[in-house]
Amino acid sequence: MVEPLKAVGQSIRRFDATSKVTGEALYPGDFNMDGQLWLKIRFSDRAHARIRSIDTSAAEALPGVVHVITAKDVPVNEYGLVTKDQPVLCGPGSTISDADVVRCYMDNVALVVAETEAIAAEAAKLIQIDYEDLPAVFDMEAAMLEGAPQLHEDKPNNIEIHYRIRKGDMAAGWAQADVVVEGEYSTGYQEHAYLQPEAGLSYIDEQGRVTVIVAGQWTHEDQYLIAHALNLPEDQVRVIYPAIGGAFGGREDMSVQIVLALATHYVRRPVKTIWSREDSIKYHHKRHPVTVQAKWGATREGKLVAMEARIVGDAGAYNYTSSKVLANANLMATGPYECENVHTDTYAVLTNNIPTGAFRGFGAPQACLAAEGLMNRLAEALNMDPVELRLRNSIREGSFLSVGTPLPPGVSMPQVIERGALESYWTHANGWQRQAVEQPENPALRRGIGFACGFKNVGYSFGAPEQSWATVELYGNTEIEHVVVRHGGADVGQGTHTVMVQMAADAVGVPIECVKFIGHDTAETMTAGSASASRLTFMSGNAICGAAAEALEAWRREERPAKATYRYRPPKTTPYDPMTGKSEPNFAYGYVAQAVEVEVDIETGFVRVLRVVSTNDVGKAVNPQQVQGQIEGAVIQALGYAVMEHLISVDGRIRNPYLSTYLIPTVLDIPIEVKSVVLEYADPIGPFGARGMAEMPFVPLAPAIAAAVKDATGVWIDDLPMIPDRVVKKLREQGVGVL
Ligand code: MOS
Repeated sequence: MVEPLKAVGQSIRRFDATSKVTGEALYPGDFNMDGQLWLKIRFSDRAHARIRSIDTSAAEALPGVVHVITAKDVPVNEYGLVTKDQPVLCGPGSTISDADVVRCYMDNVALVVAETEAIAAEAAKLIQIDYEDLPAVFDMEAAMLEGAPQLHEDKPNNIEIHYRIRKGDMAAGWAQADVVVEGEYSTGYQEHAYLQPEAGLSYIDEQGRVTVIVAGQWTHEDQYLIAHALNLPEDQVRVIYPAIGGAFGGREDMSVQIVLALATHYVRRPVKTIWSREDSIKYHHKRHPVTVQAKWGATREGKLVAMEARIVGDAGAYNYTSSKVLANANLMATGPYECENVHTDTYAVLTNNIPTGAFRGFGAPQACLAAEGLMNRLAEALNMDPVELRLRNSIREGSFLSVGTPLPPGVSMPQVIERGALESYWTHANGWQRQAVEQPENPALRRGIGFACGFKNVGYSFGAPEQSWATVELYGNTEIEHVVVRHGGADVGQGTHTVMVQMAADAVGVPIECVKFIGHDTAETMTAGSASASRLTFMSGNAICGAAAEALEAWRREERPAKATYRYRPPKTTPYDPMTGKSEPNFAYGYVAQAVEVEVDIETGFVRVLRVVSTNDVGKAVNPQQVQGQIEGAVIQALGYAVMEHLISVDGRIRNPYLSTYLIPTVLDIPIEVKSVVLEYADPIGPFGARGMAEMPFVPLAPAIAAAVKDATGVWIDDLPMIPDRVVKKLREQGVGVL
């Protein structure tokens, strides 16, 4: 007999809610230890240069300075999440060839450990670095040309990666097309702007382990990269996460993890560091600026018959996750649509700019801007309702993607589009009808409505190893009295630990009060993979359900306590074929559709987003309130990306590294209404039917806003961010202006 679910599906209050509100929750910068020292990093002063020598004598002579560390002191001087292509410290005398080259302003050159933060900061400035300047390149198209400055010897023409899709017969596709639309789209950097910049405390724990308290997205990955750089066995390194103030992909790559560990490794004392907001904006990776040139063709009936795209992303000076982000962009460039003939070329290009990497959506938002932009242009060219056109082409159960393989079962894109339309501005009687927009009296204010949809993978893609461990321990005698769940997944602020406890309670069949959660410490759990790719509910739920089933069997065998550790592995995915792109990219997806209403001030170019209706298939809302929180959070973050956030980089240097000049949404910028419509079409292999959902509501917002701006003004804006000066210029160019 199946027990009814008691915890799953309930808006259980988050366990950390009170401590976050009262301020009792401790973030990495809140920890202190007796005898602690302070760490400051000396960053590169050049975008591209070879370091001839480093003179640390003046810094070392400063009273209060305990130790100065340079490249020659790093046991294995390399790191990187996907490719170990970045020195921990740049400079001569390293174990790794070419580590004497700085390739961007965020490269680390030296570390100062001192008695106080002020002394460490002063000493860092006293370090003399002798640079031999190298030619630099900041434009991704220029970087690919013959004769451009080369960043890495093994990456000719600075091409980090090139993906191709070659499906069908393009000539035949174009021949069938009655209508062809083309566009060129560009997106900007985006800063993660999480609460509490990078910070941490390192020390030697009671078992002699180099231990780092820090905020990240995957404790075991941090542990591995620290151990690699320090040349220590992994069990001699311990990583602990306290409260984390958001991550959004920005804490996936290393920031202070390795340098703190290195400092404690040498001085054998606790070492603390806290970055300022300015440091954080200047020295951690950003969302990729991407350009997409694309051309789509359709028949008069609105059937897509040919799609072509060239996508170029600025990786900055090192790979970070660029090779994965652009893989995803390449897949998402054709939107959630079926088409027989597809041709793409996608590049991640190395430049001397700040590295770019993971950020909520992971390449999908950039590609979606172009895909949904062209879909809306096509609707206009065909004089067809954009919802109707989407439904005629939408992927559905059994559809094949551009990569020549069927989607995993559980495709709900058509249902999500329909519901998204009906819950917003559309009706369906004799075909799809959109409501008229009521215009304000002020003739300078123009309102419009736009629609876009999208999809996003859950879990790692393209053959990347994917797994998650969980342990369930059952305590009691005749009855199960309490349950301990161990899982390594990071609660970055999304509330995943509460969700894990909910799933564990129902998997074991006990009230949630009986479940205790242990995590955020490499010494206490097995690896879980990262808090990314919208994967934690899906992966941890399956792992916890597996562990619970085995623990219950042990319980029935009368083992006390009954314990089980279980590894969940989802269906395998495969990498792109290098010539055709054929692959099985993902094992699960989440689907989203969004309608927005905007008001454009045609005098100033200011775009105000009035209403957003976000319809998301989440499979099963394990905690409905948290799902709503994720939708609202993603929508506001995407709103900032689409119309406000403008990070300016000149010759590789960020010119506005402050929240006073890099504007993110605040309470006055949010729409009057964000309506979350939550659908529950179960994923066949999701725990309790759940799909991942954290990134999906970010994906189509920008193109939905662009379509609404077009509806309001008659002008397409194809470049992000749609800030007033850019919008007003476009409006004037097309004769829309002050009355
Ligand atoms: Mo996320 S962008 O998958 O860390």
